[in-house]
Amino acid sequence: MKILVTGGAGFIGSAVCRLLVGETGDQVVNVDKLTYAGTLTSVAEIAGSPNYSFVQADIADRAAIKAIFDTHKPDAVLHLAAESHVDRSIVGAGPFIETNIVGTYVMLDCALDYWRGLSGDAKAAFRFVHVSTDEVYGSLGADGLFEETTPYAPTSPYSSSKAAADHLALAWWHTYGLPVLVSNCSNNYGPYHFPEKLIPLMILNGLDRRPLPVYGDGSNIRDWLFVEDHARALRTILKTGRPGEKYNVGGRNERTNLQVVHTICDLLDELAPNTAGSHRDLITYVTDRPGHDHRYAIDATKLETELGWTAREDFESGIRKTVEWYLARADWWEPLRAEYDGRRLGLLNAKAG
Ligand code: NAD
Ligand code: DAU
Repeated sequence: MKILVTGGAGFIGSAVCRLLVGETGDQVVNVDKLTYAGTLTSVAEIAGSPNYSFVQADIADRAAIKAIFDTHKPDAVLHLAAESHVDRSIVGAGPFIETNIVGTYVMLDCALDYWRGLSGDAKAAFRFVHVSTDEVYGSLGADGLFEETTPYAPTSPYSSSKAAADHLALAWWHTYGLPVLVSNCSNNYGPYHFPEKLIPLMILNGLDRRPLPVYGDGSNIRDWLFVEDHARALRTILKTGRPGEKYNVGGRNERTNLQVVHTICDLLDELAPNTAGSHRDLITYVTDRPGHDHRYAIDATKLETELGWTAREDFESGIRKTVEWYLARADWWEPLRAEYDGRRLGLLNAKAG
């Protein structure tokens, strides 16, 4: 298949590109604007493959996206490009509206024009997978799991923009028949994760012996999935999912933020011991995130039973691989830390820098 991947220079998109080109043998056209979060070194290992090409473009630029469809004539679209960081959305929602909502609209509309020009098997086989998040469902209490039928109740500018995009995507199926599928995944972690997010930030701050800022009391819960498991889930949904359907993706790995940070500290104590003391000593409780969702947890039964996907990594195996990867790949993260030094983002009285 020739697959147009948007956001393929980002954390999850690059894992998808590496999987499709390196393992599956599909042709990939990676379309990415290269914002602060886009890094071509994340796809360096496949950059020379005859199955891979890269186009720098903004998904909200209709002329550029139309030209990409006309030139590359994809069999399918995996749409991941987005502004992805909740804290940044709190202090500057504009890029989230522009990319996540307007950009998704442009992708859908250009895909529709292109799809209408196809015929026969090519038209029947075409797929548009819109990649979304469990955050669209809002915040859970102590019990229950997000199911595909859970009503949407997003709370942050980020999750609201993703919810809007999900509704647009399914509207293009219901109204125009474009074969759209939507995936809603829980928190990812693993290699090539930009160091603004909890897990890479804690690893790199720990290595630097800097404070480990835990928002609030650290009792918020996230449901963690190793990024390569998400990439395999997206490949499965693309190749075997049913148009018009939503699929939740998650690995049943709920942890409080404090549990996550403790695990990272203990791994750093083992793998990068420091005579100055345990990494747990660096934990600092800081002002909570405004509107901080308490708990996310995914029920992935539909994906597991209907499409046969299962997660390969549990949190213990995945987080060890992740810490080991960051210890080995300073060449990847050092330039990013120079650009974004780990300062606090997302406080209402501060401006994003
Ligand atoms: P990321 O921030 O690491 O990467 C986003 C990529 O999109 C970057 O390469 C960036 O350059 C590109 N991009 C941003 N704006 C663009 C634009 N206007 N045009 C073209 N490219 C643009 O994000 P991620 O964590 O890899 O997330 C990818 C997708 O998966 C997003 O849609 C996100 O909502 C979703 N998702 C993420 C998680 C998670 O835990 N990270 C979980 C579930 C769903
Ligand atoms: O659930 C899926 C979502 O997971 C994705 O849609 C988002 O794109 C992705 O960024 C992620 O969102 P979160 O807000 O859950 O991830 P983040 O890494 O920013 O924060 C994880 C938890 O850790 C959250 O409860 C806030 C907390 N946190 C975060 C940072 C950066 C801290 O306690 N300290 C921190 O320094």
